[in-house]
Amino acid sequence: MLPKTINVAPLILRPYRLADVDAVLAFASDPEWTRYLPVPQPYTHSDAEKFIAAQILLDEETHQAWAITQNDKSIGGVNIRFDFHNQIGVIGYSIARPYWGRGFITQVAGALIDTAFETYPDLNRIRAMADARNHASLRVMEKLGMVREGRLRQNRYVRGEFIDEVWCGLLRSEWATRR
Ligand SMILES: CC(C)(COP(=O)(O)OP(=O)(O)OC[C@H]1O[C@@H](n2cnc3c(N)ncnc32)[C@H](O)[C@@H]1OP(=O)(O)O)[C@@H](O)C(=O)NCCC(=O)NCCS
Repeated sequence: MLPKTINVAPLILRPYRLADVDAVLAFASDPEWTRYLPVPQPYTHSDAEKFIAAQILLDEETHQAWAITQNDKSIGGVNIRFDFHNQIGVIGYSIARPYWGRGFITQVAGALIDTAFETYPDLNRIRAMADARNHASLRVMEKLGMVREGRLRQNRYVRGEFIDEVWCGLLRSEWATRR
C-alpha cells in the first residue's frame, strides 16, 4: 500500500474523514467544478456523504484515495486504482475552483506518480483520462510527462450527452528518464 499521508508542501494528502462532507459539498456544488465530471448536478449533501463513504470503504490494496488538504481542510481529492496483473495504475484528481491554476494538481499528481513507481518496483505504467474538452486536465497530464495515447469517441454518457474521452499514459521508463 502507498502511505496514508503524503506531504506535498504546502498541501497534505490524507485519508478522507466523515467530517470532510461539508468541505466536499462546498466545492462540488460549483457547476464549474462538476462541468467535466460524471457526478450529479446539482450536487447535494447526500451526494457528498455517499462520495465520502465510498472513499472510506475502498479496498486500499487496489484503490487508494486521499483528500487534498490545506490546514487540514479538504480542498480536493486524488486517487489511484491499480491493475496489478497488468502493472498499471490509473489516477484521478480534482481541486476546488479557488485553487485552480496554481500548479497544485500537477504537484500532487506528480508526487503520487513518484510514490507509486517508487513503492511498486514492478509497476510499469500510469494512465489518466479526461473529457476531451477538459483542457486544464489534459494540460496537467502533459506537464506530468504523459503521452496522449488515444481518444475514445462518445465513450461515456454523462448528463444527457455522449462525451469523448482522451487517455494519456506514462511508462516507468519515461518517468525514470524525466527524473
Ligand atoms: C483540471 C484541474 C484538476 C486542474 O488543477 P490545477 O491545480 O488548476 O492544475 P495546474 O495548476 O497544476 O495546471 C493547470 C494547467 O492548465 C492550464 N489551463 C487551465 N485552463 C485551461 C484551458 N481552458 N485551456 C488550456 N489550458 C488551461 C493552466 O494554465 C495550467 O497550465 P500552465 O501551468 O502551463 O499554465 C482542476 O481545474 C479541477 O479540479 N477541475 C475540476 C475537476 C476536474 O475537471 N478534474 C479532472 C478530471 S479528469
